[in-house]
Amino acid sequence: MSGPWDAWLDDALQSLGDAMLLRSLRPLVLPETHVVSQDRHALPTFEGLGPWDRAGVAVEVSHATVDAWLRDSSSTGEEVERNPNHNAGGGDNAEGELHKLLLFSGNDYLGLSVHPAVRQAAAQAAVEFGMGPRASALVCGYTSHHRLLESTLAELKETEECLLCPTGFAANMAVLTAITSVVPGKRGSGGSPVAIFSDALNHASIVDGVRVAQRQSNAEVHVYRHNDMMHLHQLLTNCKRERKVVVTDSLFSMDGDFAPLKELAALRKRHGFLLVIDEAHGTLVCGENGGGVAEAFGVQGHVDIHVGTLSKAIGCHGGFIASSRKWKQWIQSRGRSFIFSTALPVPVVAAAHAAIMVAKKEKWRQHNVWALVRQFSEATGLIFTSPIAPILFGDADAALEASRKLLKMGFHVPAIRPPTVPVGSSRLRITFSAGHTAADVEALVKALPVWAKKKGPSPNFLPTPVSWFPSSLEKVATQKCLHEKHEKVQDKQVRLRPKL
Ligand SMILES: Cc1ncc(COP(=O)(O)O)c(C=O)c1O
Repeated sequence: MSGPWDAWLDDALQSLGDAMLLRSLRPLVLPETHVVSQDRHALPTFEGLGPWDRAGVAVEVSHATVDAWLRDSSSTGEEVERNPNHNAGGGDNAEGELHKLLLFSGNDYLGLSVHPAVRQAAAQAAVEFGMGPRASALVCGYTSHHRLLESTLAELKETEECLLCPTGFAANMAVLTAITSVVPGKRGSGGSPVAIFSDALNHASIVDGVRVAQRQSNAEVHVYRHNDMMHLHQLLTNCKRERKVVVTDSLFSMDGDFAPLKELAALRKRHGFLLVIDEAHGTLVCGENGGGVAEAFGVQGHVDIHVGTLSKAIGCHGGFIASSRKWKQWIQSRGRSFIFSTALPVPVVAAAHAAIMVAKKEKWRQHNVWALVRQFSEATGLIFTSPIAPILFGDADAALEASRKLLKMGFHVPAIRPPTVPVGSSRLRITFSAGHTAADVEALVKALPVWAKKKGPSPNFLPTPVSWFPSSLEKVATQKCLHEKHEKVQDKQVRLRPKL
């Protein structure tokens, strides 16, 4: 790279650095556990946690990485190569050379990414098929393995069809751009553009999908206040566009709260909009069958398009769109981020399928993760309603300092700052996995400073896991934010947020 680009990039890096926004890669050393079963057709499932589960939550990092991390110095992970004692494979490190870290930061809510059946499915598929025919799905990248996974996901979501995408991000982009390119009547004969209504705290992939749709199809965009159904109703009522789409996360990734899906279903009936929900964090976590937040609320049939990812509770990688056959046809024909990207590798697809099968058999995983949420809520006196438990600071430096303190004590709890969350709402984002034990949560609670434990009434609305899903989700859905302070910050942010 030369010429003006060099200078532009230097400047950009400089300002990011000044704003403390240069991100770093921190290489984790994963423990080795050899658990591939001998029987190639068996799907090993278990009654409880096994040693393999540890690999999903307990890792190690080099001291050089910890030092760089604590100093908040920019890194590309190069310190691991500089340290001659460090071996990225974890092989011949003497004991005590690595810093042990318990992760409370991942999205592998059921711990399936390290499950023996998932490892085995990926390994066998790799041995038998390699990485698959490498091309986009529409060329030659789509196989019977992809089809089987799509059918399994459609069954999970109770939809006619499902379409696999390279990632959840790509799935949201494909949905939003494809939907808004629908022109009624003869192609090119006009029709007013679609109006999109998007929750103020929707995920970045929705925000970007909406932006592209706006540019590409001249879509009219309205951002409604987070979970504020009155605001949405007003915007819908005042909007003269014929074709309307409402899009929302079902379980918000940074706040851990739920979209009020029952109210959205009622509004859909009244206003006749297309309802798109992003179940990235709800799939396999919520609902008796793991169908997601829509299942937990009993509104699966009122949702037109369910977007999901294979990279969170399913423990693998990739995205999907569950919908009617017609919507699938449209999206696979018009969703550019689906069309122009290589299909998922077969081992990943086989592993995701195995993960869903395991989740169905090992129901205790779902129960465990909710039991940990309950334990954490009771121990801290704070109300947490999902395996995503944010502790709000407001100030970015304070959140960073708290994260650093926990890191020193062996807990990885990231500080989430703007632009990921609204200005003034920096937080620690704690997440739970079925791979954690009650002792892990107890240790985390002990490590959290007093400021993070507000002694108050125990959150008695959390009854026994699983049986409580539908009823208590309704209760928490009406709760706009987790803390009073947060509510104020969000209101302010919505006012400040520029139009998409
Ligand atoms: C709500 C939400 N939607 C979509 C995505 C994107 O999923 P993926 O990581 O598969 O691209 C994420 C991931 O962070 C998410 O949190």
